[in-house]
Amino acid sequence: MEYEEAVASAPAGWRHFDIGDIARLPPAVRERELARVPRGEPDERVLRALFWTLVYHLEPQRWDDLARIEPIAPELIAALPGGGDVALDVGAGSGRLTRHLVKKGHRVIAVEPSAGLRALLARRLPNVEVVAGWAEQLPLGDGIAQLTAACGALGPDPAVLGELRRVTARGGVIALISPEHPEWFEEQGWKRTVVARPPVPDHAPELDEFFGPPDPPHEMVMTTV
Ligand SMILES: C[S@@+](CC[C@H](N)C(=O)[O-])C[C@H]1O[C@@H](n2cnc3c(N)ncnc32)[C@H](O)[C@@H]1O
Repeated sequence: MEYEEAVASAPAGWRHFDIGDIARLPPAVRERELARVPRGEPDERVLRALFWTLVYHLEPQRWDDLARIEPIAPELIAALPGGGDVALDVGAGSGRLTRHLVKKGHRVIAVEPSAGLRALLARRLPNVEVVAGWAEQLPLGDGIAQLTAACGALGPDPAVLGELRRVTARGGVIALISPEHPEWFEEQGWKRTVVARPPVPDHAPELDEFFGPPDPPHEMVMTTV
């Protein structure tokens, strides 16, 4: 997400963090994130911009609590190819999409930069290969996946799209659920599917106070390599 967009769209939960929390991020993550921050920024704007990173890396359980009340629309899961081949889940978080890929019969590799989220995923889905990494530089060989998928993690960044294409086998599928700027993908010829928002289960009001109203993933863009 672009810096200004991240500042403007941060949910109220950004106030939960203190500027000192940035020092608690893993050094490589901190360096990467601070490289996006213009000089002389007020603390409030920095915390807003880094809100999601602070959640994923410092409070992974809080992200997982949100993911549990935002189920992915079943029509999107049904539209993903199934069966037997290698599937990648890029930016897999605690495994909201990963578990569906496993159920569809894939051998799944999950790539996720947050150590806390990787630990949650590995505990929940012991048959999944979980690796540390960023979408801009996937630690994977060329053409290894028949399905390369992501949910809520990626947008139209040329470095990321280049990597998704590189790791996907010829004839394989790239599917991005809840991508940033879906209209951009549609303009490039990707198939865009929008379905009804799935119902949100009962949950603690604190989740809405922290993250804003739940928005379960109900949109997907897909292309064949
Ligand atoms: C909105 S969460 C979605 C997690 C999971 N896919 C799901 O649907 O529950 C975004 C995830 O992408 C990861 N992420 C953020 N930037 C990333 C990047 N550049 N490359 C790979 N993963 C990234 C975050 O650590 C986080 O786990």
